[in-house]
Amino acid sequence: DGELSLSRSMINSSDKIIRKGGSSIFQHAVEGWKINSSLVLEIRKNILRFLDAERDVSVVKSSFKPGDVIHYVLDRRRTLNISQDLHSLLPEVSPMKNRRFKTCAVVGNSGILLDSGCGKEIDSHDFVIRCNLAPVVEFAADVGTKSDFITMNPSVVQRAFGGFRNESDREKFVRRLSMLNDSVLWIPAFMVKGGEKHVEWVNALILKNKLKVRTAYPSLRLIHAVRGYWLTNKVHIKRPSTGLLMYTLATRFCDEIHLYGFWPFPKDLHGKPVKYHYYDDLKYRYFSNASPHRMPLEFKTLGHYWDLFNIFVSDTDSG
Ligand code: CTP
Repeated sequence: DGELSLSRSMINSSDKIIRKGGSSIFQHAVEGWKINSSLVLEIRKNILRFLDAERDVSVVKSSFKPGDVIHYVLDRRRTLNISQDLHSLLPEVSPMKNRRFKTCAVVGNSGILLDSGCGKEIDSHDFVIRCNLAPVVEFAADVGTKSDFITMNPSVVQRAFGGFRNESDREKFVRRLSMLNDSVLWIPAFMVKGGEKHVEWVNALILKNKLKVRTAYPSLRLIHAVRGYWLTNKVHIKRPSTGLLMYTLATRFCDEIHLYGFWPFPKDLHGKPVKYHYYDDLKYRYFSNASPHRMPLEFKTLGHYWDLFNIFVSDTDSG
């Protein structure tokens, strides 16, 4: 099974909430947690049968020429032209080549992080992965600020930066990217049609402002490979969420993976409301059929061996 190496960390933030609330069941289980190194190696080996994150984390310059036409990964009928800008931002070699870390944090975007005080702990990891350019400065105490690798779905341009409609949106975006220095900015540009304009605008801003971020664009086979791996665990995930993709990639680079902010449920263990994202007002789309993701299923899979999780998930997962 591919799920066992990460159980404690997934509930780190909820654990803190529980401790504050004085409940003892989870605390007991959490304190008893220790890494199972042979299982970690086995998970890595099994995932490597499907993908090699060092390679699949990004296409490289030599993969394409400007003007090449490719088919979208999840919509094969539609195509995308590799523009000059995009080509110039493709890395020469994998941004994760030869990179290994003892401990990594993968930070999901659940509101469970609010008031968790997890910031210091997150920043203490050797490598910190974040999702969708989530803001950090104003939430530093709960989420930390270190960002070695950060993803950005093209939809973020619309959701968080006003579709770059005016100069101040663009400035806000450039400021956010300037904070990243030479972190990896991971843009899934080849998944589905719809975001290509946004990707082009982002690329143009990076080039124009000579930003130092190290851009990466996931390989065309990544999603299929990740889906294939999780199918061997009998988990059918049509479209893996960013968090699950990051966990799966991280198994290649990290001896220990600590998950934070993975809590796809509208309530915490005490019944207190939990925001979908810690930083905006998006609602719980994934409980409806409109959502491409199955985050509660992913959560259940990642935390599978803990019976308590199963009870909790079956009580709340209406998706
Ligand atoms: N996440 C979670 N619980 C939530 C919100 C997010 O577990 N309430 C985790 C998921 O693993 C998710 C990751 O945090 O993938 C990042 O959140 P988000 O930016 O919402 O993820 P995406 O998967 O990119 O979602 P979308 O495709 O809707 O943009």
